[in-house]
Amino acid sequence: MIRFEKVTKRFSSGKAAVFELSFEIQKGETLVLLGRSGSGKTTALRLINRLIEATSGKIYIADENILEHDLIDLRRHIGYAIQHIGLFPHMTVGENIGIVPTLLQWPEHKIKTRVNELLNMVGLEPKHFCELFPENLSGGQKQRIGVARALAADPPIILLDEPFGALDPIMREQLQNEFLQIQSQIQKTVVFVTHDLSEAVKIGDRIAILEEGKLVQISTPEELIQNPANPFIDTFLGKDRFQLILQTQTLKKFSHALKSRKVRSDQKVSLNSSWMEALVAFNESETLSVYDQETYLGDLHRKQLLESLMSCFGQS
Ligand SMILES: Nc1ncnc2c1ncn2[C@@H]1O[C@H](COP(=O)(O)OP(=O)(O)O)[C@@H](O)[C@H]1O
Ligand SMILES: [Mg+2]
Repeated sequence: MIRFEKVTKRFSSGKAAVFELSFEIQKGETLVLLGRSGSGKTTALRLINRLIEATSGKIYIADENILEHDLIDLRRHIGYAIQHIGLFPHMTVGENIGIVPTLLQWPEHKIKTRVNELLNMVGLEPKHFCELFPENLSGGQKQRIGVARALAADPPIILLDEPFGALDPIMREQLQNEFLQIQSQIQKTVVFVTHDLSEAVKIGDRIAILEEGKLVQISTPEELIQNPANPFIDTFLGKDRFQLILQTQTLKKFSHALKSRKVRSDQKVSLNSSWMEALVAFNESETLSVYDQETYLGDLHRKQLLESLMSCFGQS
């Protein structure tokens, strides 16, 4: 859906903000761009909707070079939530969300219906919120409106720049869960920027790690944590590694090692459960009965999980 081919962007200062980036994002995929502040994440994102132009290299959307797209038409296909939210303070919540549909000259009733639909989607009661101004909203509410605005004209591609950046951990987690819920329904192609590794692992189908404008690894969260491509990523994983293994590994790892039993454990878990979820369930019982949907696959013993955990540590 989106393809970068050796894309470099130099600002006038000379040093490349992004350097020879090449990667591809599939339709319906959520790709997370992860890296420290200044690593080139925002620059990479803004190249996609041509808020800035590449110095060299090419970007394709649906196999067409973005330079050959009509600019207005291109932007219409791409929703964008900028870093630090960027709601217009003198416009109501409804006007903020409806800004792109208004520019596209949708009829008024259609805009209103869409705004209400989006407010409901992000969990804000339209009657209460539509006429409020941004200054009357909490941080979490503003972030929700920012995401709703990016979705307004139903674009196939969504760019989100640290959309949950300025939130406390609890609110952040809640919005992440809501995002996953919404994305599972709408299946957009999403490029999601963050500097938070555990957010990346939670949100991304794949994660692209940027360091000083260069792509150092692109892989699924599981691969990233199991086989970090270079010492930089290893350091980046740092003390969170244990936590991240628990979060990303699932019981699929044991699908060939389950023991069928006549008398099953009454602690049921799904094959898709994370190791973390399994550990919690092991508090209640020495063994868990593992299911794929409705099918019983066999029992897992606590010792099997602990042994696998130990060997992960041995490798790291
Ligand atoms: N408009 C600009 N003019 C000059 N330098 C810029 C501009 N935008 C970004 N940069 C520089 O490019 C590098 C990458 O910035 P950015 O893409 O914003 O990083 P991130 O989003 O990962 O924090 C930084 O060194 C930043 O100072
Ligand atoms: Mg940024």
